[in-house]
Amino acid sequence: MSHTIVIFGASGDLTSRKLVPALYELHRKHRLPEGVRIVGFSRTPMTHEAWRAKLAESTAENIPKPLDSTLWQSFAESIFYQPGDIEQAGDFAALGQTLARLEAGAETTCVYYLATAPRFYEPAIAQLGAACLAERSCKRCRVVIEKPFGTDAASARRLNQKVHEVFDESQIYRIDHYLGKETVSNVLVLRFANTIFEPVWNRNYIDHVQITAAEQGTVGRRGEYYDSAGVLRDMFQNHLMQLLTLTAIEAPARFEADAVRDEKVKILRAIRPMKVEDVATRTLRGQYRGYCDEPGTRSDSTTATFGAVCLAVDNWRWQGVPFYLRSGKAMSCRTTQVVIQFRQPPHMMFDAVPNRLHEANRLVLQIQPAEGIQIHFQTKVPDAGMQLRQTELDFNFRRQFAGDMPEAYQRLLLDVLQGDASLFARADEVELAWSIIDPIQQAWDAGQPELGLYEPGQWGPPTSDAWIERDDRQWFDLCPVLH
Ligand code: BG6
Repeated sequence: MSHTIVIFGASGDLTSRKLVPALYELHRKHRLPEGVRIVGFSRTPMTHEAWRAKLAESTAENIPKPLDSTLWQSFAESIFYQPGDIEQAGDFAALGQTLARLEAGAETTCVYYLATAPRFYEPAIAQLGAACLAERSCKRCRVVIEKPFGTDAASARRLNQKVHEVFDESQIYRIDHYLGKETVSNVLVLRFANTIFEPVWNRNYIDHVQITAAEQGTVGRRGEYYDSAGVLRDMFQNHLMQLLTLTAIEAPARFEADAVRDEKVKILRAIRPMKVEDVATRTLRGQYRGYCDEPGTRSDSTTATFGAVCLAVDNWRWQGVPFYLRSGKAMSCRTTQVVIQFRQPPHMMFDAVPNRLHEANRLVLQIQPAEGIQIHFQTKVPDAGMQLRQTELDFNFRRQFAGDMPEAYQRLLLDVLQGDASLFARADEVELAWSIIDPIQQAWDAGQPELGLYEPGQWGPPTSDAWIERDDRQWFDLCPVLH
């Protein structure tokens, strides 16, 4: 059995920065299945050798250790290049011939990876169908579709319809690279491979949940894309919504694609749709100073680079427990974390500790970059009467386990090759996530709430603290210490 990965958008950034380095790392660790070949497809005319040489350079820049030239040589022998235009049917016929020659009649799993600009998703899929390269009945053909999957619920629905004309849902792998992060999978392990957390994982013990994805970086060279997307489409509809569902789901019976995704869909359905009149108070939006001077952005742009959203999950477990989601660029540090803020003790018999929520227990799931988990709890300060102080138990992945944390794409590519869709989004999941975001985006586009400016290096606009304090809560804003 052999495997062919055809990458559309072969000369693009994603291919050189993420996909090929991830495949090389899997090869280095002897994790790639036997007989994997990579075929790049894009318009730039290039020979196999020229593409291999380019990839050697970019891979060296995007892996944690120096490139081993002997290993690279053995890996590069399976890399091929096919120049072609997604709009040209003839180029797909030529691709078909190349694949047939390379595969030489061997039974092959073929993965089509769409790493192109999103406007090419539909035509690429249609051409694959027309060229008979993606028979719906052929379970060994798979298609991987990068984000953004649509720009709202209607466009996502349309794209789903188009993909379903050519591929069966079981052949479709919609990427959300957050799902490939080890710490994100670990949310399920923490909750469902232990007994001590689940009994308190509900409205009786949890006051609220904060999910933050803060980035220190600005939009950089991606101004043109970002200006039409903004933080809601770029981070909330996908990554933050995935973190929310994994934090909130009921235990699936098995760790299988549809069992997990069914539970996630139940949560998405339980999220209370935001009424337009509530968007002004239940969300916050901001833009960092200097954003409009970034290359590719409009000089009068009102695109939000920071957002905070308070969502309610209407089910028995989570009734009355708000989920505060927050993400921004140009923030004070890079940190993605899920904070489970427990309730205060019902009665505090120690006078020295005021009964305040932020002094109550807290579980912090550090998704990145200081991957780990902390539990915060009160402790008696020795030799100081009955004085108490909040202290923490600190688990850190890098201290506990040897080796580097792998890039998300390694896990995801391996899963696609093995036909495991557990860490990919299903059609209904993507559409539901958009339907939660759409009313918020519409109100933001209409100017509600007011766009707050913030200085780069802040935690969003100055109103951010007051926004959450109205609910008698506080942001947990600690930048993680890297070990
Ligand atoms: C991408 C967004 O999906 O995720 C980027 O388009 C963002 O804007 C990136 O920077 C964040 O990913 P990570 O893995 O660095 O947290």
